[in-house]
Amino acid sequence: MQTFDAVVIGAGAAGLFCAGIAGQRGARVLLLDHSPKVAEKIRISGGGRCNFTNRDAGPANFLSENPAFCRSALARYTAVDFIGLVQRHRIPFHEKHKGQLFCDESSEDIIGLLLRECDAGGVVRRQPCGVRAVRAAPGGFELDTDAGPVQATRLVVATGGLSIPKIGATDFGYRLARQFGHRVVEPRPALVPLTFGADTWAPFSALAGVALPVRIETGSGKARGEFLEDLLFTHRGLSGPAVLQISSFWRPGQPLRLDLCPQLDLPRALREAKASSRRHLGNALAELLPQRLADAWLTAAGLPADRPLPEVRDRELDALAQRLQRWELLPDGTEGWRKAEVTAGGVDTRELSSQSMESKRQPGLHFIGEVVDVTGWLGGYNFQWAWASAHACAQALTA
Ligand code: FDA
Repeated sequence: MQTFDAVVIGAGAAGLFCAGIAGQRGARVLLLDHSPKVAEKIRISGGGRCNFTNRDAGPANFLSENPAFCRSALARYTAVDFIGLVQRHRIPFHEKHKGQLFCDESSEDIIGLLLRECDAGGVVRRQPCGVRAVRAAPGGFELDTDAGPVQATRLVVATGGLSIPKIGATDFGYRLARQFGHRVVEPRPALVPLTFGADTWAPFSALAGVALPVRIETGSGKARGEFLEDLLFTHRGLSGPAVLQISSFWRPGQPLRLDLCPQLDLPRALREAKASSRRHLGNALAELLPQRLADAWLTAAGLPADRPLPEVRDRELDALAQRLQRWELLPDGTEGWRKAEVTAGGVDTRELSSQSMESKRQPGLHFIGEVVDVTGWLGGYNFQWAWASAHACAQALTA
C-alpha cells in the first residue's frame, strides 16, 4: 500500500493550494480528484478571468453560523499575501470594482500558478481518481481509491460545495464529515438569482434586460443583509450583483426590500421638478430611472406618462416615490444549484479548529475551502477563503 504524510481530496482552489504549500514544507502529499481536469471552477470563475481575491477581504465579508471562525485564517493569510504570490508568478491583473482583482488574461493563469506550486512541492497528483471508502486506521487513515489502496497520516477534505453539479460538484465532503460524527449546516444555494411566482412577476417580465443601481436588503437583526449594487431584471426574476449578494442572506418566506433610486431623496426631487418645469411626468421620471422601468412604474401606479408635472398632485408624487424606494417583493425560490456560484452552509465550524481546520472529533482529519460553513460575498472573497483556509491547514500538516 502506498503511504503519504497527507492525502488531499479535491484538486480545486483550496486543495491545490494546500497540497503545494504542504509539499514545499516537506510533506509527501497525494492530491486526488474524481474529475479528469483540475480546478474547473477556477477556469469558469470571474467570467473566465478569475476574481482571485479582494483587497478588502475581512471577516465581515463572510456568512457562517459561527462568524468568528474565519478570523484567524484570514488574518494569517491575507489578500496581500496572495497578491504577492500572483506577482511572483508574473501574472498580470487589474482591479475592477470595490477591491475585486481579476486576471488581465485568463483564469488559466491562476491554475498554472497552483500547478507550479504543487510541482515545486513534489505533490503526486491523480485524476480522474475517485475515493470509494475512507477508514480511520492506526496512525491515520486508509483510503480505497480508483487507483488502489492508500495510507496517510492526515486527510484533507477539499471537495467544495454543491453548486454546478455538471462540472464535478458532489456531496462527498458532507458525507465524509457525517461519517466521522460531524454536524453539517444544511447546504443551500447562494450567490444565485432569485425567482418569483408567475403572478408576482407578470407585470415585470417585460423589463428583462433593464439594469440599474439599487439598495437591496432582507432579513433582520444579525441575519440582515444590505447591499448597494447593480440589479438586473430577467424573464424569470431578478439577478445582477445586488441579487446575487442578497441571495446568500435570503431565507424562504422572507421579503426583499428594494430602493430603486438609492442616490436620491426622490420625493424632494420630484417636487422640485414639478415646481420648475411643465415636463411630462414620464420624461421627468425617465431622467432618474431607465425609461422602460419608469414607464412600467407609472402604468402600475395608474398615472399617465404624458400628464404635465404641475397637474400631478403632491400626494401622487409622494406615493410614486414611495413605491420606487420601498418596493417589497417575495421571492418564491432560487435558480438552484445549476446557477449558484457557491454553497452556503457546510461542515459546522464549531467542531473544527480555527487554527488548523482540523476536526475536533477525528484527529488528523481537516476540512478546507467551500465544504466548510464559511461563505463569502460576491467579489473574490470565496477564493480568499480557499487560500486562507488551505494555508492554515498546510501549516498544521507540517508543524
Ligand atoms: P472547488 O469547487 O474549487 O474544488 C473542489 C474539487 O473537489 C473539484 O475539483 C471537484 O472535482 C473535486 N471533488 C468533488 N467531489 C469529489 C469527490 N467525490 N472525489 C474527488 N474529488 C471531488 N469565487 C471567487 O472568489 N471569485 C470568482 O470570480 C468566482 N467565480 C465563480 C464563478 C462560478 C460560475 C462559480 C460556480 C463559482 C465562482 N466562485 C468565485 C466561487 C469559487 O469558485 C469557489 O468558492 C471555490 O472554487 C471553492 O474552492 P474549493 O477548493 O473549496 O472547491
